[in-house]
Amino acid sequence: MSIKPDEKLMLGKPVAESVIEYLSSEIPAFTRKHRPPRRTVIIVGEDPASQVYVGMKIKTARRCGIDSELVELPVSTPESDLLGRLDRLNKDPDIDGILVQMPLPGHMDQQKVIEKISPDKDVDGLHPFNIGKIAADRPRLVPCTPLGITVMMDHYGVKTAGKHAVIVGRSILVGKPMALLLAMKAPGGNATVTVCHSRTSDMASITRTADILIAAVGSPGMITGDMVKDGVAVIDVGITRVEDASAKKGYRLAGDVDFESVMPRASKITPVPKGVGPMTVAMLMKNTYQAARMALGADDAGESR
Ligand SMILES: NC(=O)c1ccc[n+]([C@@H]2O[C@H](COP(=O)([O-])OP(=O)(O)OC[C@H]3O[C@@H](n4cnc5c(N)ncnc54)[C@H](OP(=O)(O)O)[C@@H]3O)[C@@H](O)[C@H]2O)c1
Repeated sequence: MSIKPDEKLMLGKPVAESVIEYLSSEIPAFTRKHRPPRRTVIIVGEDPASQVYVGMKIKTARRCGIDSELVELPVSTPESDLLGRLDRLNKDPDIDGILVQMPLPGHMDQQKVIEKISPDKDVDGLHPFNIGKIAADRPRLVPCTPLGITVMMDHYGVKTAGKHAVIVGRSILVGKPMALLLAMKAPGGNATVTVCHSRTSDMASITRTADILIAAVGSPGMITGDMVKDGVAVIDVGITRVEDASAKKGYRLAGDVDFESVMPRASKITPVPKGVGPMTVAMLMKNTYQAARMALGADDAGESR
């Protein structure tokens, strides 16, 4: 029996919604016992895409019962001001989570800013301490997009143990933590992992051996049907705005995977949009709740998946 395209699709929204509904049902009891989880979101400058993302994060937090404080700083803010502000937030016992929206203006050192955030309040999971905890098989606050991908794979029955997972992209945000999660000696891990990047030679010969292929580059349509084997499970993380005069907004969102040529060969595939995107925001809520539980000493908080 042939599989219909719809049956192959791994949509993020229903999975993200179930996480958000779970949090919305859990957090009121936590709030009654302690106080609402609280998070500060900092945005520097007026990048339109960042403003949309921040808006989404605040709206979803409200649905979950998480308090958000938004700090909007001008693009000319000196790096030292931002670092000083992070210092104060780190020490504030009423704030559980800190999120600095990326990208930052060119005069700021992104990694320095990430490392300034207390690992306990690092709801994006990007601090080297939290990345290191994944490497030590003891994940704690895990970067939201890779975490969302593991939750999605679990939901859609993509088995990882013993499989060859190929990740294209090695960023701190997606590729590297994704590789660590898949290589973990734990459920959702136990894969054999290969990481490709811009210096990889003959990448197609590697992607063709993938049982699971995760593309996180930001290069529309770079993974084509001739680069995958039949039955591969494909996760497309890439999101790039591509000009499109026929679209209402004048652009459309494109993934790294050429959906038309890859979909017929795949056993499962995420679309762009509506694939991984919604999971990232849901995992941010999960991490914020976890940070609040850790801060307020709620039982069994801390290392978890
Ligand atoms: N859905 C979501 O929620 C979500 C979340 C985060 C990011 N994204 C999207 O995911 C994409 C990647 O994001 P990112 O932050 O990881 O990007 P990034 O920091 O720019 O990293 C891109 C990676 O792709 C690699 N690369 C570039 N050209 C390549 C090529 N020709 N062949 C193989 N690898 C190549 C780079 O290699 P080098 O290291 O060698 O330079 C780098 O490791 C973007 O489109 C972003 O918008 C989506």
